[in-house]
Amino acid sequence: MRATLRRLGDVIPLPVSVRPDPAANFLVSPTVAVSADPAAADIAEQLAKLLRRATGFPVPVTEAGGSIKILLGGYDKNEAYRVDIAAEGVTLRAATEQGLFNGLQTLRQLLPAEGRGIGEITLPGGTIEDEPRFPYRGTMLDLARHFFTPDEIKSYLDTIVQFKINHLHLHLSDDQGWRLEIPGWPRLTEVSGGEGTGVDGTGGGFLTTAEYADLVAYAERRFVTIVPEIDLPGHVNAAQVAYPELARDGEQLAPRTDAEVGYSSLDANREETYAFVEDVIREVAALTPGPFLHIGGDEAFSTPPEDYRTFLTRVLPLPGKYGKRAVGWHEMAAVELPPSAVPQYWRIEPADDGVAQAARDGHQVIMSPADRSYLDMKYDKDTPLGLDWAGVVGVERSYDWDPADRLPGVGEEALLGVEAPLWSETLRSPADIEFMAFPRLPAIAEIGWTPRAARDWTSFRDRVAAFGPRWHAQGVNFHRSPEIDWIDEES
Ligand code: ACM
Repeated sequence: MRATLRRLGDVIPLPVSVRPDPAANFLVSPTVAVSADPAAADIAEQLAKLLRRATGFPVPVTEAGGSIKILLGGYDKNEAYRVDIAAEGVTLRAATEQGLFNGLQTLRQLLPAEGRGIGEITLPGGTIEDEPRFPYRGTMLDLARHFFTPDEIKSYLDTIVQFKINHLHLHLSDDQGWRLEIPGWPRLTEVSGGEGTGVDGTGGGFLTTAEYADLVAYAERRFVTIVPEIDLPGHVNAAQVAYPELARDGEQLAPRTDAEVGYSSLDANREETYAFVEDVIREVAALTPGPFLHIGGDEAFSTPPEDYRTFLTRVLPLPGKYGKRAVGWHEMAAVELPPSAVPQYWRIEPADDGVAQAARDGHQVIMSPADRSYLDMKYDKDTPLGLDWAGVVGVERSYDWDPADRLPGVGEEALLGVEAPLWSETLRSPADIEFMAFPRLPAIAEIGWTPRAARDWTSFRDRVAAFGPRWHAQGVNFHRSPEIDWIDEES
């Protein structure tokens, strides 16, 4: 069986420059080998493994002499890479391992859907030169409403990196549950991390510090930065259940497994609050090698505005004190922000004065408007999972917008990037996560990577159609949206 030849530009996110040369197709034959600089041996082995699976050939990794070459250096931008495919051989080059890893994802998509051992395959000839539009291309997983295990998170990571997503924001605490062990505060996870602590009393669990460290390292090897979030000063019922001294008047609150928001708050006028918050931020910072620490700040409806300002004015400098940049949902822009702080816009309104002011003050912004980028919104009214408070978000709606146009005063130069959050009130399993993320996360990934002028819905729709058999081969669930003319068999 001979696989259909993929076109050089059949890649998501669409590369910056694609120059096909059909006279230069490369045949992956039984004798093919991958050669790499020793510093790139890991990437070479990953590519060889993909080729072995696709072809069934031995595909050894050697230091020299292979017709597929991986070169580190000489192409001097952090995430950029270049792929040259010619009849005599294939070369992938980048200045950094991260760039090579990006190029590897592109090459992976130029192979037929993997896992089939189909013998000789042909790679389309030509040259791709590529680099991202934004440094931050993220998605968020809500572990608080329903917990997902380290293995489930790792499996999701392995799928999202294929679209060059490079930040995974973990929502680790909320009213229902607390999902990260914090040294010195054991009841957070003993009381609020166990069985029965998710929405509807399902989906409890938590990450030990060792599991979190292992997950962060796993992500780092895939060039993904983990962004931990501890949501403050609202969304704290689980913390207050575990430690009544954090509740107003020190009362013992009841655990909550419903999906209401906005009813809980730390007390901005008690020193116990700040002792707790600083301990947690210090511990999370110590466990997290990446530059960001997300402090939430959203929907603090039961925190009086003056108290909200008092609280954030004291808490916002703490990530910086422990070596991190504070990220927060954009409500935090109501107070004066430390210079490196990053507001994350999540609402559906067409303008926001606080975020516009932050951008004027030189802050970088992450754009996550719920009516475009929230992966937990239903695709249409019949979607069995998800919510619809921001409307239904079909695949075209998730693709056909631009973050530099979303808020007046927040243009291209103010953007750190885009993120697609996925809240888990209605999600119970990895298959549920995947159903909501695919194919909309690839749409957001393309918005974050591809130059704006090169993006086109019709082109995206045609390219994503080929992912049906690919996701099927990988065991990844997805929504067979009627907006896409899915290709069922690649060869
Ligand atoms: C949010 O959706 N409450 C950030």
